[in-house]
Amino acid sequence: MTSQPKPDATVTTSNVDQDVKDWIGKVRGLIDENRWTRCEIIRAIVEGRASRDAIKRWAMEYHYYSSIATPNAFVMLANAPDRQTYAAWGRNMAGELGYLDEPEHLTLLAELPKQFGATEEETVSYAPLPSTIGAAFTVSYYFRRSFEEGIAAGVASENMAVDAMEVIYEGLKNHYEIDSQFFKVHIAAEQEHAEMGLAFLSKHALTDAIRERMQRAILNTCVTKRQMWVGCETFLT
Ligand SMILES: [Fe+2]
Ligand SMILES: [Fe+2]
Repeated sequence: MTSQPKPDATVTTSNVDQDVKDWIGKVRGLIDENRWTRCEIIRAIVEGRASRDAIKRWAMEYHYYSSIATPNAFVMLANAPDRQTYAAWGRNMAGELGYLDEPEHLTLLAELPKQFGATEEETVSYAPLPSTIGAAFTVSYYFRRSFEEGIAAGVASENMAVDAMEVIYEGLKNHYEIDSQFFKVHIAAEQEHAEMGLAFLSKHALTDAIRERMQRAILNTCVTKRQMWVGCETFLT
């Protein structure tokens, strides 16, 4: 009887590394297909084709979405698997709450509909489209379900938007004379969060089973968030 050769730890680790690398490439492609900049409502705003009323309603949808999704992202602190992840996610959340270099993000976003003529009452009592509710509740579900799925949903969400922040900021400024502080602070912040998220994704996507759960979270976040912006296209007509 011949004895089984002992598994070579170096080979095993590098195989896992390669699997993770390949999978991250696949995930990047999936997110890329669903980028905000591919959506008609975003392109219309960037190119100055959207009416002020359409932007007001789009901004109220976005504000509704963020009012649900952002607080749920804090559950990820409780689920963080190690101190380093806890601290890094905590920094992201500190920025959201306005404890870093800029004011609280939800407050900045609430300003946007008002800059396009909405009253406080209109913004607070706004009834969103079902597609917006779907997107907000989907990402929130993954934030609460597990750290692995939460980080995956967060990565999808932030990477979909990463190249849109600057062009939306410029579009609002050039075509509508609106200097949106919300988009301004996210030009650099979203880049940092997107990269940090991908690094955490690589660190924790170590088995097929985990990658499968993460990928479902990424896909469902992408399709519902994309549908949120598709729903807003009705504002353009
Ligand atoms: Fe933010
Ligand atoms: Fe972010």
